[in-house]
Order: sequence, then structure tokens, then C-alpha cells
Amino acid sequence: MNMMIAFQLKQHVLFLVMLVIGSMMLPPLLATFEIQCIDRERQALLKFKQDLGDVAGVLSSWESHQDCCKWRGIRCDNETNHVTALDFSRLTDSARWHVFDGEISSSLLELQHLNHLDLSDILLTATKIKFPEFIGHLSRLKYIDLSGGVGFEGAIPQQLGNLSELQHLDLGGSYYVYTTSLDWLYTLHSLEYLDLSGVNLSQVTNWLPALAKVPSLRELHLSVCHLPEIILSSSRPTMMNFSSLAILDLSRNYLSPHSIYSWMFNLSGSISYVDLSSNSLQGSIPDAFQNIPSLSYLDMSYNEIEGGIPRLFGNLSLLETLNLAYNNLYGEFPHFPEVMKNLFERKLKHLDISWNRLNGSIPEDIGNLFNLKFLDLSDNRLSGTLPESIGRLSKLEVLYLRSNHLEGIISEVHLFNLSMLRELDLSFNSFQFKINSCFVPPFQLESIQLANCTQGPQFPEWLRTQHNFSDIDMSRAQISDTIPAWFWDLSSVGLSFLNFSHNHLYGKLPDLTSKFFPHHALLDLSSNNLEGTLPLLPPSNWSLNLSQNRFSGSLESLCNSGDLSHLDVSDNLLTGQFPDCFQHIGSSFITLNLANNNLSGSIFPVSSHCYLQSLNLRNNSFAGELLQSLRDCNLQVIDLGKNKLSGSIPAWIGDNWSDLVVLSLRSNDLYGEIPSSICHMTQLQILDLSLNKINGTIPKCLNNLTAMAQEQSSTLTISYGMITPNGRSLKLDYDDSAIIMWKGVESEYKSTLRLVKTIDLSRNHLTGEIPNEITSLVGLVSLNLSRNFIAGSIPPQIGQLHLLDFLDLSGNKLSGVIPMSLSHLTYIGVLNLSYNNLSGRIPSSTQLQSFDVSAYKGNSGLCGPPMTNTCPGDEVILNPEKTGHHDEEDTLITTGFYISLGLGFVFGFWGTCGSLLFKKSWRHTFFKV
Ligand SMILES: *[C@@H]1O[C@H](CO)[C@@H](O)[C@H](O)[C@H]1NC(C)=O
Ligand SMILES: *[C@@H]1O[C@H](CO)[C@@H](O)[C@H](O)[C@H]1NC(C)=O
Ligand SMILES: *[C@@H]1O[C@H](CO)[C@@H](O)[C@H](O)[C@H]1NC(C)=O
Ligand SMILES: *[C@@H]1O[C@H](CO)[C@@H](O)[C@H](O)[C@H]1NC(C)=O
Ligand SMILES: *[C@@H]1O[C@H](CO)[C@@H](O)[C@H](O)[C@H]1NC(C)=O
Ligand SMILES: *[C@@H]1O[C@H](CO)[C@@H](O)[C@H](O)[C@H]1NC(C)=O
Repeated sequence: MNMMIAFQLKQHVLFLVMLVIGSMMLPPLLATFEIQCIDRERQALLKFKQDLGDVAGVLSSWESHQDCCKWRGIRCDNETNHVTALDFSRLTDSARWHVFDGEISSSLLELQHLNHLDLSDILLTATKIKFPEFIGHLSRLKYIDLSGGVGFEGAIPQQLGNLSELQHLDLGGSYYVYTTSLDWLYTLHSLEYLDLSGVNLSQVTNWLPALAKVPSLRELHLSVCHLPEIILSSSRPTMMNFSSLAILDLSRNYLSPHSIYSWMFNLSGSISYVDLSSNSLQGSIPDAFQNIPSLSYLDMSYNEIEGGIPRLFGNLSLLETLNLAYNNLYGEFPHFPEVMKNLFERKLKHLDISWNRLNGSIPEDIGNLFNLKFLDLSDNRLSGTLPESIGRLSKLEVLYLRSNHLEGIISEVHLFNLSMLRELDLSFNSFQFKINSCFVPPFQLESIQLANCTQGPQFPEWLRTQHNFSDIDMSRAQISDTIPAWFWDLSSVGLSFLNFSHNHLYGKLPDLTSKFFPHHALLDLSSNNLEGTLPLLPPSNWSLNLSQNRFSGSLESLCNSGDLSHLDVSDNLLTGQFPDCFQHIGSSFITLNLANNNLSGSIFPVSSHCYLQSLNLRNNSFAGELLQSLRDCNLQVIDLGKNKLSGSIPAWIGDNWSDLVVLSLRSNDLYGEIPSSICHMTQLQILDLSLNKINGTIPKCLNNLTAMAQEQSSTLTISYGMITPNGRSLKLDYDDSAIIMWKGVESEYKSTLRLVKTIDLSRNHLTGEIPNEITSLVGLVSLNLSRNFIAGSIPPQIGQLHLLDFLDLSGNKLSGVIPMSLSHLTYIGVLNLSYNNLSGRIPSSTQLQSFDVSAYKGNSGLCGPPMTNTCPGDEVILNPEKTGHHDEEDTLITTGFYISLGLGFVFGFWGTCGSLLFKKSWRHTFFKV
């Protein structure tokens, strides 16, 4: 018995030992059966790689392995060894896009067992690559993703209809691809996912009936497809019910409400996601939405929807996301408390009603939105205070209330429980922060946007608790303090956007070299009382505005700061010359404003490429020859007025700077003639060469200044988009401004700069006559040729300049009569013809007689009203009462006129964008900034 057991035990041990040995031998044994890719397919893949042009070497690992089933992006069937998947969606961990400069090789046809083809992360840089037709012959394909940057052109091959097993077809982002028919979809009985975003479907009038024949469709994306309006045959509406459809994206087409609603409300019950943003939806939100109780996501932003927020949303008990931003919704927010109650207390997580015209106040029960993560009510007309209950929203991550009429105190109660808050934007209301300095907010903000929220006079102590922010805007916060040293070390991630402009900050700035985020950074400390030298900044791509402070010393400190795309240090006490480093950093400027300092020397030479578009050196002491160093810059705005520049205006000016809009060389020591190349500046709107020693005649070709020869303008401002630090959705533009002599006063124009068209050549040594051609510049609002030696007569057609508000020809040698047409200038507010040799009767019109005698004096030969001397042979004396007090009224008419001119244009050209511009109430600013 014992022996028996011993023997059996022995056997067991032996067996175990054999097992162990066996399993040790197993791997090499198995390896001979290991998947090995088929050589024909391997060759095909190598050809594919070769034709793809792997410039970046992303597929370099391919060669190293004999077995192509082990290559990155390849999967094989584990039994047949055939390649079944080509998946480039996660080729590397680092980059999203991989650039190739070749094309998709038809060698892939060899992979007849391919069922998964994903080329979504590749970017073909070659142009005019036809959509690969052969894909339609890979008959086992179930999954195709060619979305994103692939970059094909031309028609979608109808052969795709042969892929009867296809379940997923994603061609999203194919902006150069079109199709004239979707009939090839009929045979795709298994298709569940279809994304044709970007494909031009403008010729496919039956797109909807065609899609309705794909019964299995669950997800449909047709964004930016230029979809024709839907024509529904009323006889068979049930054919359109898309019984499986759950996700529908029709964004960025121009579909009308009639088109969309007529079939959407007949969809069967499973739809949960609807994106109708950026279409042409008008009218109010239809009640029929309540027939889609399955909705959890609804985006109707960027339309022209009007009216209030309807009751129906209260019935959509599954709604999680509601986006109605950028519409014309009005009425109280929220109009129906019970609606909001239903919404709020259920699922709603994301509510965006920004950029509408909602008024009323934010209700106290906003605190019941337990699930809310994202709330954006910016750019409405909401008033009242911020309910304290908002502080209860413990899941809220983003709160934007920017640009409303909200007011009152923000205290720790409002922030009490917002423990998840990451982004806070309360800018441009009338809030006043009063936070106890002992209070520790439960959040760590990443973005702090509190422009125009009063914080001061002390620097806000509560900031001390925040360590994750990279964006901070506390401009116009009434802070009268120094920036405490601890502030600069708060952010552990590094600052990329800092705006403390328009406060009363004083003191010096420390060395900021280690305080900023290294890539793009925006620092705006303008309009404070900061002093000392300009700060030392780390090398980065900067937008830097330190204007209107009391910084002194030289520009030397900027030499370390890397690329300065936008630099504005105007209105300081800076002295010295351009440091040598400007030869290099000079080529990074897009805008440079050094106006109103005491800088001297010559203008810096730009070493290589010049991207400079706007240069303002006004009111310094720069000397030397003009501009040679900036010859290769494609400038739009140049203001070198009030310096000591000498020499003549170079002949190349009009050819090299042909895009110039503003040219001011006012008040320098320039001499010589105006080169006729100046007429090549077809964009020129503001030409100011006054107060120099320019001689010769006014070029006759002035009529080639086409921008001045047009009454309207294509935009209101001259803006340069700034790189947005940190990728936040802040739209940052640098709006250019120009100083213009407007009726004898220096005025700054910014928000309506593009409407101003003026020529000022006054106080020079010009001779010759006023060229007739000047009368074709019908966009001119101001023309000043005074104090020259211009002779001849006033051009008879001067009345064509019917927008003229200001005309000064005084102090010349003009002779002859005042042309009749001058009396057609109905908008003229200032006229000065004094001190010439004009003669004859002043033409009669309410305009010309309404000016003071001083407008005509110094012309011994003029007669008739308003002069007191009657003309020879006059019998009728005009009733002086008739002329009245027109001055005031005229200015008003003129103002109104330009406003309507601008608005007419804005609404005509920009459509909905016009209303955005209008919201900025720029009408108050036409005659100011
Ligand atoms: C082969 O793959 C199929 C699915 O693709 C899997 O179910 C099966 O277990 C695999 N067989 C082996 C031996 O790995
Ligand atoms: C594929 O489609 C084309 C055109 O749609 C057709 O002519 C051809 O016969 C189809 N081939 C197969 C194998 O179905
Ligand atoms: C779309 O295609 C039509 C004709 O096929 C063409 O006229 C139209 O310009 C295209 N639209 C765009 C935006 O490419
Ligand atoms: C800024 O705040 C002040 C008072 O706090 C207010 O009067 C003003 O209207 C606000 N400005 C803007 C643009 O919101
Ligand atoms: C203009 O002035 C320059 C010198 O400043 C002189 O050489 C030139 O002859 C003058 N031209 C005319 C037309 O008077
Ligand atoms: C003015 O424009 C006309 C027609 O475009 C052109 O022939 C002429 O050369 C231009 N003159 C100047 C001086 O630019």
C-alpha cells in the first residue's frame, strides 16, 4: 500500500517534471506556428509605404520586422494570417497628424481581406490627389475612416456602393471632395455611421430621400456640405423616419427652418443628439421639439432664432446640453420658472445662451442646477445681482457671465461651494469684489477673467490662494497699489495671459524672466503708473502692451524677450536709440508702437524678413533719411509724424508699400517732390504729408487711389489677430489706430478707422494746380491743401466730393471763381478758402452762405453774401435770416450720415456679424476712438 502510494507519487512527480520541461520547450515549438504575414501582402504594404512618401519617418519601424503583422498600424487575422486592418489612428503618441508627401497606392488592392481602413491621422501634402477609387474593390471593408487631413480631391467613387458589408464610413473634413449623387448608398445595408462633413453635396437635391434608404443609419454627420434645401414629397413622409438614427449633425449649412423642421419632427423616437448650429434658422423655437423626448444634446447656436426660451424644454427630461448661443433670443431669463425648474433639476449639465438679448435677472433658483458643469450667459442684457445661490453649484466647472449689466457685490458666499470651478469670467459688468482676506476659495482657477470688476484699491489678497491659473484679466479693477512680489510666483503653470491694464498700479516691475509661460504670452499693463526700466522678459512670442505708464530708460531690456509680435510702449518716458538687437528682433514685429516718447537716432534696419504691418513712431526725435531700412516690409499703417526725419520721399514708396492704408509723415523735415508711385497705393485712405518742405506739384494720378475713390469701406477697423495664449476661446485682436487732424484737432480713430478718408498736404511748398483728378476721390471726408503755393482755379467738379466735411484751400494762390458745384457739398462742416486770389460771386446755397466771412476773407475779388460787399449789378439782397444757424445741425447730419454709411455697409456685407459689431456701440465712438 505504502509502496503503491510512493510509486504513484513518483509518477506524479515525473509527470510534473515532464510538464515543466515540456512547457520550457513550448515557446520555440509554438514559434514555428506563429503568425507570419503573407509575402504578397508584405510587398504590397512596402509599396504602399514607398508611395506614401514617409518624409517624417513614422513608418521606419516597418522594415525592421520580417513579420508585417507586427508592424505599427497593421493587424492580421490570427488564423489565416491575412492583413485585416490598416489603422493609422494611433501611429505615435506624440503628434496628432503625420505628414506624407506622396499618395495612397493602389497596391493596397492586394489586401483583399482588409476590413478596417483608418487613415484618419495622415496628412497628405501633395495637391490634387484623386479620391482612391480602388477602395471600392476592397469588398470586405467594414470600416473606413479617411477623415481629417487626408486631403483628397474630386468625386467620391460610386464604387463605394460595392462595399456591402460597410458599417462605418467617415470622410469628415474632405473639403475638396464632392459627389453629385448619393444613390450608391442604397446598397450599403449595414451602414451605421456616415460622416460626409465637408463634402460638397450642393448638387445632390435628393440627399434626404437617398439617406432615408439606409435603414441601419445610427449616426449621420453632414456639417459644411452645402446642402440644398430639403424637398419633401408630402405623400410619403413616413419613408423619412430614419428609425435607427440617434445622432444627427447638420451644422454649418444654410438650411432654413422650413427645411429642417419639416422632417426632423417626424423622426422616430430614438434621436438623442442634434446639431443644427450655423444654419439659417429663424423665427421662434418650435414647440414640436417636445415631440423628441429622447433628446439629450441640442445645439442651435449661430442661427437667427428669436423669441423667448420656450416652455417645451421643461419636457425634455433627458436634456444634458442646450446650446442656443449667438441668436436673437430676447425676453426675460428665464421666462418660465417651472420650465427651468424641470430642466435644472434633472440632467442639464451644459447651458449656453451667450450672445443673445436676454434681459431680466438671474433667478435665485439657479442654485438648483445640481448637475450643471458649464454655464455661459455672456453678452446678454441681464441685470440685477448675482444670486448667492450660485455658490451652491458644486459641480460647476465653467461660469461665464461676461458683458451683461449685472451689478452688486461678489462675496465669499457666491464662491462658497464652487469646488470644481476652473474658469470664471465675470468681465464687463459692474461687479465689486469684496472677499474677506481670510477666505480660502474651494477652487483652483485656471482662467480668471474679471475685467471691470472692482477689486481695489488694494491688490486682491484672495488671489494668493490660486496656483493653477495661466490667464488673468483684472483690467479696470480700480487697483491703486503695487503688484506684490508674491503675485509673480503664484502660478505653478506659468502665466501666458496677464492683463492689469487701466488700473492705478505703481512701482517698478521685477525681473520677469522666469514668470511666464514659454510659448505665447500676452502682457498688458497699459494705462497705469508703473515706472523704472522696461521689464526683463523671458524669450517667448510676445504681445506686449506697456503703453501709458512712466517707464524710462532705453529699449535695451527688450533684447532678451524673444519674438515680439506686438509691442506697444507708446506714451512713456523712454529715451535713447534703437539697440542693435532690433536688427534681429525687428523681424518678429507685426505691430510696433513707440509713439510719444523721447527716442532718437535712426530707424532700425530690419535684417531679413519683415512682417511688420503697422509702425507708429509718432512724436519722438527720430532723425535721418527716411525708411530705406523698412523698404521690404509690407506695411499697412505707418505713422512717423512729428519727428526729425529728413531727405526726400523715396520713389519706391508706392511700389513697395502698395498695401498701405495709413501714411502719415506729418511734421518732419522732408523735402523734394511727391513721387508719382504714391498713386499705386490703391488701399490708401489717410495721406498726411503736412508740415514738411515738399515742393513740386500734386501728382495728377491721384485718381488711382481706389480706396479713396470709393464711398464705402470693406471693414470698420484695421485689426491684426493676435495669437491666443493657451488656446482659450478668447478672441484677441489688436485694433490699429491713427491720429488724424480732424477740423484742427488731433483725434484718434480706432473703431471706425476704415471709414475715414483724408488727404492733408497743408503747409508745404507745393506749386502747380489742383489736379482735376482729385475730384474723383469721392470717398474723401477731409481735404486740406492750405498754406502752399498752389495756383490755378478750383476744379469745377469739386462738388463731386459730396462726402467732404472739411475743405481747406486757404493760403494759396488760387484764382478764378468759386465753382457753382461747391454749393452741392451738403455735408460740409468746415470750409476755408481765405487768402487766395479768388474772385466773383460766392455761389448761393444755404451751405456757402452759412459760413463765417472768415472762410472767404483775403480774396479781394469775392463778393456777395456772406461777404458784406455786394457784387456789381446786384439787385436782390438775400434775406440773411434764411441762412439761419446751420453749423450745429450740419455736424449732426454729417455724423448721422457716416453712421448710416457704416451701418449700411456692415449689415449688407457681414450679415449677422454686423450685429456683433453693432453691439460694441461703436456709434458713440466715430468721432473719438
Ligand atoms: C483569434 O481571434 C479571435 C477574434 O479575433 C479570437 O476570438 C480568438 O480567440 C483568437 N484565437 C487565438 C488562437 O488567439
Ligand atoms: C462595383 O461598382 C461598379 C460601379 O458602381 C460596377 O460597375 C461594378 O460592377 C461593381 N463591381 C462589383 C464586383 O460589384
Ligand atoms: C460645390 O459644387 C458646385 C458644383 O458642383 C460648385 O458650383 C460650388 O462652387 C461648390 N461649392 C464649393 C464651396 O466648393
Ligand atoms: C464697468 O464698471 C462700471 C462700474 O463698476 C460701470 O459703470 C461700467 O458700465 C462698466 N463698464 C463696462 C464696459 O461694463
Ligand atoms: C524741390 O526742392 C529741391 C531741393 O529741396 C530742388 O532740388 C528741386 O529742384 C525742387 N523742385 C521743384 C520742382 O521746385
Ligand atoms: C493709373 O491707373 C491706370 C489704369 O489702371 C494706369 O494705366 C496708370 O499707369 C496708373 N498711373 C499711375 C501713375 O499709377
